[in-house]
Amino acid sequence: MIANPSRSSTGGPEIVVCNTCRHSAEAREDAQGRRGGARLADALRSARSADARYAAVTVSEMACLFACSAFCTVHLRERGKMSYVMGHFSPDANAARALLDYAVHYAASDDGQVRYADWPEGVKGHFLTRSPPLESSAA
Ligand code: FES
Repeated sequence: MIANPSRSSTGGPEIVVCNTCRHSAEAREDAQGRRGGARLADALRSARSADARYAAVTVSEMACLFACSAFCTVHLRERGKMSYVMGHFSPDANAARALLDYAVHYAASDDGQVRYADWPEGVKGHFLTRSPPLESSAA
């Protein structure tokens, strides 16, 4: 499934999770046959549904963000804001909460740039790329 590139369903921030990222350096899948990326997507949805602060954040999935060696990866985006590809996450609840906490600050920002003082510890060192807002390329 490829995420809709035009808009998240809420109009707020969207975390697009690569659902094909590896389970580990040694194995694509865990003992249950699940990819690490699919497990991270589940962890994000579970954390999102457990905390009302995250309600405005959409979690979606697509196969491969072309950052495979940095598994597990996500793309954080919102129209009119800088977007980020982030990686080297474990597919667990701690990573999910860190990403969602960051997305809440991202949503509150004007341009997608979050003050470093507001970064959750769990996202530090995980940024791979940033891209300009879509609108700026039309100028
Ligand atoms: S398989 Fe996840 S980025 Fe390529």
